Amino acid sequence: MTADAYRQIIDTFFGHSPYADFDARGGSAAPQGWGQHNPVFEKLIHEVQPRLIVEVGSWLGASAIRMADLLAEQNIEGTIVCVDTWLGSAIHWREETYRRQLNLKNGYPRLYHAFLANVVAAGRQETILPMPQTGENAARMIGSLGLVAELIYIDGDHEGTAVYADLMNYWPLVAPGGVMFGDDFVAEWPGVVRAVQMFAHKIDLPIERIDEKWIIRKP
Ligand SMILES: C[S@@+](CC[C@H](N)C(=O)[O-])C[C@H]1O[C@@H](n2cnc3c(N)ncnc32)[C@H](O)[C@@H]1O
Repeated sequence: MTADAYRQIIDTFFGHSPYADFDARGGSAAPQGWGQHNPVFEKLIHEVQPRLIVEVGSWLGASAIRMADLLAEQNIEGTIVCVDTWLGSAIHWREETYRRQLNLKNGYPRLYHAFLANVVAAGRQETILPMPQTGENAARMIGSLGLVAELIYIDGDHEGTAVYADLMNYWPLVAPGGVMFGDDFVAEWPGVVRAVQMFAHKIDLPIERIDEKWIIRKP
């Protein structure tokens, strides 16, 4: 079913490929990310053999490109739907290094085009599909197509209430036997830790950890 997720999403929501007529020149930025080389990606992709991955929070594409490379290495024909407003979180506006990457024009970020350029530069546009939406809207849109994902990576807004909302919105989209996992289960992000713990308690499932990544498996 999910082999066609890529086409289904384009046909329903875009009308044509978001890469059509995209001029990648001049828009790219080094795909700086957070922990994309953590072994969790390889381990979970190997275990779950996902046909559909949803990533909530993609920034410049580093983690999505890493997952796309792993799918290719493991000969898995999968789609990665990247959900992001590409507007950044509060921390990205406050800190100069990140603000530079937002590449503001008239006060509005140009992150999305850098993301697209990075995906094209990596040659992964057949695998990675951007969904420029809030996490909440995108969950509804994906859900409305009846799609479920074997892997969902939560790395969007790190404020506690926002993380909890992502967990609640995306858990129904995890396929049975699938996995939801995420970044920054560390003391520096108490909102992430609290939200994941509260959620795991609510659904009565254990949290596994690999370094700063958390993992919850759906029975
Ligand atoms: C930590 S970055 C993602 C990093 C990426 N996974 C990587 O490792 O390269 C968080 C992203 O979440 C996005 N974001 C923040 N709030 C969001 C929301 N409500 N809906 C969708 N995306 C959001 C930001 O625009 C930002 O790009």
